[in-house]
Amino acid sequence: MSAEDSPLCALEPGRKIIIAIDGPAGAGKSTIARHLARHFGLLNLETGAMYRAFALKALRVGVPLDESSGLESLAAETTIRLESSKVEPDNPASGEQENRVFLDDEDVTGLIRNQTVTDAASRVSVFPKVRAWMVRLQQLLAADGGVVMEGRDIGTVVFPHAEVKIFLDAAPEVRGLRRFDQLGPTPPAQAEEVIRDLRARDLRDRNRADSPLKPALDAILLDSTDMTLKEAVEAAEGIVAAKLNLTAPRAEAQTHPYAVGS
Ligand code: DC
Repeated sequence: MSAEDSPLCALEPGRKIIIAIDGPAGAGKSTIARHLARHFGLLNLETGAMYRAFALKALRVGVPLDESSGLESLAAETTIRLESSKVEPDNPASGEQENRVFLDDEDVTGLIRNQTVTDAASRVSVFPKVRAWMVRLQQLLAADGGVVMEGRDIGTVVFPHAEVKIFLDAAPEVRGLRRFDQLGPTPPAQAEEVIRDLRARDLRDRNRADSPLKPALDAILLDSTDMTLKEAVEAAEGIVAAKLNLTAPRAEAQTHPYAVGS
């Protein structure tokens, strides 16, 4: 999409939008963030991939995942880079790509989605020094604005002044089953196991002392428990449009009982 085609071209020139999408695993953040980035012509930045890349390094090097000082030293000698592509006018599919994440210049995008790294990412992300380092990187990545950034603390810590904040949630069973369905025809775990792991991760992400997962006071809550992904995407689009006074929000976003403001 060219800048002229974006619905955001109705805004004053030079205004750099930041849309923060926070929420627990399996709530549909990635799909929604990708869609919003494509629809509004913004960059999509998935911060969970950065914690995952760092967790992968800790696992590889053998630094204990519960040792703050070891992780802090490791962070000091680690570079993490996130690459996102905007939709190109001649290649509409370009905006569908996931972020590519580079750990010390190695593309580790395909190595960070397994259960071991998923669990390790949640563990290393409890440490304030690790978080402070990540937050700085994320603020630099989005310094020029024009981004949809998804994670756990974007609206509360990374960009507390983001123009639009959406907190996306859904019942744990529903999120667990969505994750299970994504595992394909021969899942490596039972559905109950996936739901149990997700609950354990939720508990850690929501209860850590530093920057726990919680909605910012000015976030719009979007509960996708009873929504299809398409409905949730449309509701999110309506929230952004309404918040930025772009156009009237879509009917679904206005009337759906879960598209409520906080
Ligand atoms: O979004 P995700 O599942 O890829 O995130 C993996 C872990 O990283 C998650 O359990 C918590 C952590 N995380 C975080 O603490 N803060 C963020 N902004 C993003 C992710």
